[in-house]
Amino acid sequence: MNLNEALNFRRSVRYYDKEQPVDQNVVKECIALSTLAPSSSNMQLWECYHIVDKKCIAEIAHACLDQSAATTADQLVIYVTRQDLYSSRAKNVLDFEKGNIERNSPKERQHKRIKDREVYYGKIMPFLYVRFFGFIGFIRKIIALSIHLFRPMALEVTECDTRVVVHKSCALAAQTFMIAMAEKSLDTCPMEGFDSIRVKKILKLPKGAEVNMIISLGIRKGNRGIWGERYRIPFEKQYHRI
Ligand SMILES: Cc1cc2nc3c(=O)[nH]c(=O)nc-3n(C[C@H](O)[C@H](O)[C@H](O)COP(=O)(O)O)c2cc1C
Repeated sequence: MNLNEALNFRRSVRYYDKEQPVDQNVVKECIALSTLAPSSSNMQLWECYHIVDKKCIAEIAHACLDQSAATTADQLVIYVTRQDLYSSRAKNVLDFEKGNIERNSPKERQHKRIKDREVYYGKIMPFLYVRFFGFIGFIRKIIALSIHLFRPMALEVTECDTRVVVHKSCALAAQTFMIAMAEKSLDTCPMEGFDSIRVKKILKLPKGAEVNMIISLGIRKGNRGIWGERYRIPFEKQYHRI
């Protein structure tokens, strides 16, 4: 399948064929491909749980409000945000970037580029992602608005804003996974209809983790797999050329 075909093939499948299991290694490959998705500042504040255990699938399907997309699934893939890992992820990226600059930048520019990255990942990123009951986000907003008076400045810096930033990047990975699956003629359904407290408990997730999307997967079962034709708002209403 080319990209166009894969995008057209992908539908939200709500009923899977129990007789047709999916190779777990192929799913794992698609999850690995999803790591190629872009993420804000390359912080990659997410992780993924590949659920293959039938008992665990049944428990999570129940937490997914017993939707048929979950109860009939062969496996589940759960994308989880990990804003709480901002410190270690920033350090990982900084360590990589230092080597990257040494390998790929002209000698005379290396010192300044490394210093810039140290400020960005060592100071700015930790300050942007740290949370404390909304208070630090409020301070960030005041600082950002003050700078904005003199020059363009990113203003989405409250604690709610950074949570959106983290979920946005995680959702891009989830979508990349679904496209990778479609390219292999494998079906998926993204779900946000679930009880997040129950799911977190089943997966034993830490407090700072948030469930972004639960994706069920399998092979669509005939006409029951897809609920009718695909509906999209007329393109002219969504497309604005300036
Ligand atoms: C973030 C998100 C959450 C969704 N949650 C559910 C869900 O809980 N249950 C469900 O059956 N479909 C869910 N969907 C699927 C949408 O209903 C579906 O994408 C939409 O109707 C368009 O159909 P298509 O995916 O077949 O093109 C969700 C989709 C997204 C992107």
